[in-house]
Amino acid sequence: MSHQLWGGRFAAPTAEDMRQFNDSFRFDQRLAAADITGSIAWAGALADAGLITGEERDRLVQGLNQVQLEFAEERFVPQPGDEDIHTAVERRLGELVGSLAGKLHTGRSRNDQVATDMRLFCLHAAQTLQMRLMQLQHALLDQAEQHAATLMPGYTHLQRAQPITFGHWCLAYVEMLERDRMRLEDATRRIRVLPLGSGALAGNSLGIDRTALTAALSSPDRYPFFDDITTNSLDAVSDRDFVAELLFDCALIGVHLSRLAEDLVLYSSSEFGFIELADEYSTGSSLMPQKKNPDSMELLRGKSGRLIGNLVTLLTVLKGTPLAYNKDMQEDKEPFFDSFDTLDLGLRVAAAAVATLQANPERMVAALDAAMLATDLADELVRRGVPFREAHGKVGRLVRRALELRVGLHQLPLEEYRAVQPDLDETAYALFDFAQSVARKAGVGGTAPERVKEQVLAWRERGR
Ligand code: ARG
Repeated sequence: MSHQLWGGRFAAPTAEDMRQFNDSFRFDQRLAAADITGSIAWAGALADAGLITGEERDRLVQGLNQVQLEFAEERFVPQPGDEDIHTAVERRLGELVGSLAGKLHTGRSRNDQVATDMRLFCLHAAQTLQMRLMQLQHALLDQAEQHAATLMPGYTHLQRAQPITFGHWCLAYVEMLERDRMRLEDATRRIRVLPLGSGALAGNSLGIDRTALTAALSSPDRYPFFDDITTNSLDAVSDRDFVAELLFDCALIGVHLSRLAEDLVLYSSSEFGFIELADEYSTGSSLMPQKKNPDSMELLRGKSGRLIGNLVTLLTVLKGTPLAYNKDMQEDKEPFFDSFDTLDLGLRVAAAAVATLQANPERMVAALDAAMLATDLADELVRRGVPFREAHGKVGRLVRRALELRVGLHQLPLEEYRAVQPDLDETAYALFDFAQSVARKAGVGGTAPERVKEQVLAWRERGR
């Protein structure tokens, strides 16, 4: 026997291919907890409005709790007619409480129901991802703390540019991830607006108190609060911009992770040798016994593709849909679940891989060369009153001279220095000290070890 939620006006059954095409239970069963939470609150609202008795409400809630438990304990048995999660829950509820189950959907549509479910799920997802981001920040901070003074080359255009500290490199990603976390938190404010009670599209005529519903749905043990209600039913049932926003946030997290990953792929190569990833987060080659590949990082880099793709998918689905609800909107779920799952696991792997990587300070220092202090020499000329533009040209000539003579910039004879700047003396050679160079970058935001340590402390105080 079918428990289809519609069909009275149909003479012919749905074609088998159409049924498969239309059914969403195989993916939207993930909304079970959210769906039942919403239904329990709805049963309360129906009783408050005098549409069911208190005793009926209690039996519905008891039945719903039972279904909730079956899902939680993974013993819910789906039936072939379970078109979507809403149908499945109502069908099972009917088996448990009888025809009373048919009263639950009074004044409600699957349109405001699914919009509510998605918001609840998105709140949970945004919270989880924020926690995962903080775990990765934590791992980066531990490395930063340990390597606040570890010298390494800093790059622009992937060309050696100026010396920095490895700690400073770590903190750059902590900053990016913090903005990602704040974006999720900000999006949360717009997700906490309750669409339930909007009906199919036009609103509710049965005297449901939607504000009271908001309070009933504020169960902080499972989900954060809904703290407002939507004020236009057409928009409420068809808006999915909160999902698109989160998908953007996920895509940008993916882009940030891909940059972190690319740095670590490079740094773990024999050519750089700056870091070594733990065996646990690397894999081998089936053919070349010597290989140790940074697959964790390559996957993090690669996953950004699907994260960006999922955002583009939903934007494309929503574009041009007429008001109000359209079945197109069912296509919000798979991209969102995929982005959430990808990052839920990806961020855990990233945090553990960063926590367990071994930095190799000797290799980092060995990659520094004196030419990276050319700017420090130019700064010295500036201190001697030379306009910077001119100093840049003078030091540039010295760099070329060093290349001609096949020596380091710091190995040029004094007369070469004097040829461009007559008042230079032996003290100029003291400039060629990487640690000193880094220590001089002591302005706020600079790579000086004291600044790095200070930043680590500041992050710790913010609970990272
Ligand atoms: N499975 C649907 C979705 O995800 C639920 C809403 C269905 N509403 C409807 N009028 N057919 O959007």
